[in-house]
Amino acid sequence: MIRVHLVPAGGGAPIELACKAGRSLMKAAVDANVQGIEAECGGLMTCATCHVYVREPFASRLPAASADELGMLEFTASPRRPNSRLSCQIELTDALDGLTVDLPPTQT
Ligand code: FES
Repeated sequence: MIRVHLVPAGGGAPIELACKAGRSLMKAAVDANVQGIEAECGGLMTCATCHVYVREPFASRLPAASADELGMLEFTASPRRPNSRLSCQIELTDALDGLTVDLPPTQT
């Protein structure tokens, strides 16, 4: 299992998930009813409401964002940062065990 930590906007205790490899971070978060991941499009990359800020060292381990992902990141409700990613595009792998992301203040 891959351990994932989602830090609520404004601080607070991280939400801890144990996820199967091969799933997207968005799917894992939605299935666990994590507040702060809306994922309105269900992973079709048309909504940008699954935005997260990925902490190092994990941000550097992710494959580069595709042109489509970079395009959608222009439409995040919360400010885009250098470590902004769409969680529907983050496939969980063993290399991401311990992945820590910050949830943005708002998704809409
Ligand atoms: Fe809509 Fe990720 S779920 S862009």
